[in-house]
Amino acid sequence: MACANFTVIGLQWGDEGKGKVVDRLAEASRYVVRYCGGANAGHTIVVGGQRFALHLIPCGILRPSTVNVIGNGVVFDPPVAMEEITRLRARGVSVGPENLLISRTAHLVMPWHKAEDAASEQALGDAKIGTTARGIGPCYADKARRSTAIRAEDLLDAAALTEKIRTIGQRKNTLLAALYGAEPLNLNAIAEQYATLGREFAPMIADTGGLLRKANAAGKRILFEGGQGSMLDIDHGTYPFVTSSSVTACGVPAGAGVPPSAVGRVVGLVKAYTTRVGSGPFPTEQDNETGNYIRQRGREYGTTTGRPRRCGWLDLFAVRYTADLSDVAEVALALLDVLGGLKEVRICTGYRVAGRCVEAFDPTLLGVAEPVYETLAGWEAELGQCRTFADLPDAARRYVDRVEAILGRPVGVIGVGPEREQMIAHHTEVPELAELR
Ligand code: GDP
Ligand code: IMO
Ligand code: MG
Repeated sequence: MACANFTVIGLQWGDEGKGKVVDRLAEASRYVVRYCGGANAGHTIVVGGQRFALHLIPCGILRPSTVNVIGNGVVFDPPVAMEEITRLRARGVSVGPENLLISRTAHLVMPWHKAEDAASEQALGDAKIGTTARGIGPCYADKARRSTAIRAEDLLDAAALTEKIRTIGQRKNTLLAALYGAEPLNLNAIAEQYATLGREFAPMIADTGGLLRKANAAGKRILFEGGQGSMLDIDHGTYPFVTSSSVTACGVPAGAGVPPSAVGRVVGLVKAYTTRVGSGPFPTEQDNETGNYIRQRGREYGTTTGRPRRCGWLDLFAVRYTADLSDVAEVALALLDVLGGLKEVRICTGYRVAGRCVEAFDPTLLGVAEPVYETLAGWEAELGQCRTFADLPDAARRYVDRVEAILGRPVGVIGVGPEREQMIAHHTEVPELAELR
């Protein structure tokens, strides 16, 4: 039997609108699983005018029939997760061990990770990465170092956890003072806080990899929810201006504890333009009136940090590369409505370096690349009410046609607004999305 699972990933620099598509597909899934990143993610779902911004909790949480899983590849931040759960509960969303599980081998983000993230960025000055300051990089660094790591399973034994926090915390305090002149963190207070959180999270901590493998073998549908975007991937992105985990579909097996065959149909999210938060090369950036127009219409301010996002034209040369990396079956083209009102719209189809066209995409070239553009006519109409491809103005249809032709992959659905319903089914082969038609 063919694998019925889905993997939803971002094909740019994050914030492509993954939350909205995951929420739609979650309706038809039994499990929704995060496999990379942590609270650096900010995924938005808008239902009936109500906006939900999720950071650590998977986007299936609004669908009562799903079990949401924080996989082993995620760095789990207990205080942030508890705050998020409390906010969801206050809005009537039930969250408990029946619909949220945390991998026992997920690594814990500790206060010293956040302190190091912030201090390191400050020390780097103009060379900073522009991180979300959520302690993501330092936590993954400790995971790789092993001797200074703490995992979710450690929350289950308060005495051992306290001892680890004391010994590891002392080393961290010494390092932070020596490197950055930082004040020592209060380790007793941290031990107390994490012991309390440990009691609350204990019923949710499980062997999620084992559970997912069993569910997969039994044919239950799993939806893997990517964080960040493929150009931020630790190996394949614009290093060092990347995040610290494997965010493409290639990260799913390792980050969720499932075999590669469980990845299923890969849906790649592409924003109709490009945004980037933080430092790093961005060839199609429009640091001008056009960029400001897109930022205002698209409300392009970080879901996690509130930072204004850098905006620019759609870079399909980069997207062709990231779509190949994960062998994307179909693309979800999001936020097409935002481009309305521009006289002309542009698509980057290639790069020139030192006056010559580049043959193969190479993420190390972005700092010196000049984009090659195809210019298309813009459209005036607002697209928020369009529900079929035929409803779109000619110029918007032509834009979508060009995206498909240049990428050589089908555009499955088109986003025309933030609401759950503001989506057009186009060439999707997913029956649940085709029903939108
Ligand atoms: P994610 O991190 O990929 O889940 O994306 P974010 O939630 O960080 O950013 C996407 C933003 O665009 C959110 O504010 C969404 O509500 C919004 N959004 C998603 N799809 C559409 C769309 O098709 N049109 C418009 N106008 N907004 C959208
Ligand atoms: P979602 O899942 C956009 C960026 C940061 C920074 C770089 C490294 O909402 O698409 P980190 O804190 O991970 O060490 O920061 O990665 N970044 C994101 N940008 N969307 C995200 O997540 C991001 N997660 C990390 O801005 O440039
Ligand atoms: Mg986001």
